[in-house]
Amino acid sequence: MMASQLDLSFIPTNAEQTRRWDREWLHYFCTEDPKQHMLTHDKLGPPTSLAGKSASEVHQTRLFAELCPLAVWVPGDLLHSSRSVLEIGCGCGFFGKQMGKIGKRYLGLDQSQFALSIARLTSPSECSYAHLSDSEAIGSWAGSMDLMVGRFFFIHQNYASDLWVLRLASILLRKGGVVVADFWLSNPAIEHGIVHPANHDLDPLYPSCAFAFTVEQIHRLANETGFSVEDIADQPSLQRRFVQLRRNSAT
Ligand SMILES: C[S@@+](CC[C@H](N)C(=O)[O-])C[C@H]1O[C@@H](n2cnc3c(N)ncnc32)[C@H](O)[C@@H]1O
Repeated sequence: MMASQLDLSFIPTNAEQTRRWDREWLHYFCTEDPKQHMLTHDKLGPPTSLAGKSASEVHQTRLFAELCPLAVWVPGDLLHSSRSVLEIGCGCGFFGKQMGKIGKRYLGLDQSQFALSIARLTSPSECSYAHLSDSEAIGSWAGSMDLMVGRFFFIHQNYASDLWVLRLASILLRKGGVVVADFWLSNPAIEHGIVHPANHDLDPLYPSCAFAFTVEQIHRLANETGFSVEDIADQPSLQRRFVQLRRNSAT
């Protein structure tokens, strides 16, 4: 499909959402060590091999010794064989700079211009970044991505946002492309912050609050956006419901 024929007007891009996440990043940097985000790709040593690792092993793997674990639930062979990787909600490019460094074509999209500035400064040339409002740049990638990852991302989306996020993913992924998504899973034994049900509105005060989806809601979401659910892996100790979705070939 030609980029010019694409209608991406369904992506909600108001300045308030950008400001909301810019401010949340300021908050993160006042409360957490920003070094992982600020480290530039040229400071990274040799990578560890991901081939043959299970999703759980990849999640715990330090791909580069200088950085913390990948924290993405994806089978090693799937990541290894994906030549192009999309991340919606890429933040400061923590995952992107690592993908670029191991030779993947990587596209990161985000709502925060502040986070995107850091991502561009820290990533190698294999990485491209675009703000959600840049529909021309986004459209130019249609149908080209093999894999989309969610890293600390789906947990912060409600049902309505996931509808347009997956609609966007289905435009950017090739037919048969895969999404690995990190939904929230409450574990009463672990203390947690604010959690809303999936149908709740976004929280104007707490961008980093979580939204909890039932298995039935995940199947409905996939159905409504042209994906099939391939796997659901509940990991209560990580407070995550990891889901693998495949873009239907017919859509
Ligand atoms: C918790 S951060 C995680 C960032 C990154 N994935 C990482 O692991 O470092 C969530 C990111 O998603 C972005 N974001 C939130 N909702 C979004 C949406 N609907 N579309 C695109 N980006 C979004 C925020 O601006 C923020 O950068």
